[in-house]
Amino acid sequence: MDLQLTDKVALVTGASRGIGMGAAKVLAAEGCRVAICARRENLLEGVADEIEAAGNPRPFTIVEDVLPSDAGARIRDRVLGEFGRCDILINSAGGSRSIPWDANDAVWDEGMLLNFDAVRRLTNAIVPSMLANGYGRVMTMTGIMEPAGVNVALAAKAAVHAWSKGMARVHAKAGVTFNCLPPGRIKSEQIMDRLHADPVARERYIEENIPVGYFGEPEDMGYLIAFLASPRARYITGEIIHVDGGMHRYAF
Ligand SMILES: NC(=O)c1ccc[n+]([C@@H]2O[C@H](COP(=O)([O-])OP(=O)(O)OC[C@H]3O[C@@H](n4cnc5c(N)ncnc54)[C@H](OP(=O)(O)O)[C@@H]3O)[C@@H](O)[C@H]2O)c1
Repeated sequence: MDLQLTDKVALVTGASRGIGMGAAKVLAAEGCRVAICARRENLLEGVADEIEAAGNPRPFTIVEDVLPSDAGARIRDRVLGEFGRCDILINSAGGSRSIPWDANDAVWDEGMLLNFDAVRRLTNAIVPSMLANGYGRVMTMTGIMEPAGVNVALAAKAAVHAWSKGMARVHAKAGVTFNCLPPGRIKSEQIMDRLHADPVARERYIEENIPVGYFGEPEDMGYLIAFLASPRARYITGEIIHVDGGMHRYAF
């Protein structure tokens, strides 16, 4: 199937590692012109090197922290300045924040800012360009809604689910879709280096929790992202689509 992505412009946040990196590679391989954003310039340049070495145009790199309130507008200006438009936005900057139930406001503010407000601000900055062109695809990486304890990121991502659904309904007739993708366990910096750093405990976790029997690769998210980014996916909006090897237990 031709995904009709040639020359579509895609902005991917959190592209220095993990899922964002995988999404950028797959979108570039499908013919998109790609802008990749994160804080660590050396890692972004490494991702750009890999994409170029695979025979695709070198991505445009944007070194930004998404937390400041004006970051969304700055990132938008860089993308529109380089490409003149933005067709696809992949919100992958984010991260788990497991905390004590009585953590202070500063802890809550940082986690909500990273995983909800920064996503909303960047999306709101980019959407007018999509509306003007009558085409847009916004995808946000969220998470499985099965709290083991208190986690700011989970609360923020639940907010993203509700917000994204609202955006999908408001902008449906304009050809701009909004979908959320909750990963289960995809190999990434936070998964391999922080949450599951011990290989023995990791294998036990997999055995007990992941029906397919292994952690996913970033590209396992990337292939779904490429399909949803395509004009072929015009009828899929307001959805929450799990990529988790069968991990979540609820049936809807
Ligand atoms: N991997 C999974 O299985 C899994 C499971 C549940 C949810 N998720 C969600 O999926 C998304 C991607 O996760 P991942 O596991 O692939 O992440 P990761 O490998 O840990 O990488 C996180 C990415 O976010 C960027 N980032 C973090 N804070 C940032 C900031 N303040 N400003 C700009 N960029 C920032 C990092 O880049 P720099 O540090 O270079 O800025 C990096 O590129 C996240 O929203 C995460 O919560 C992933």
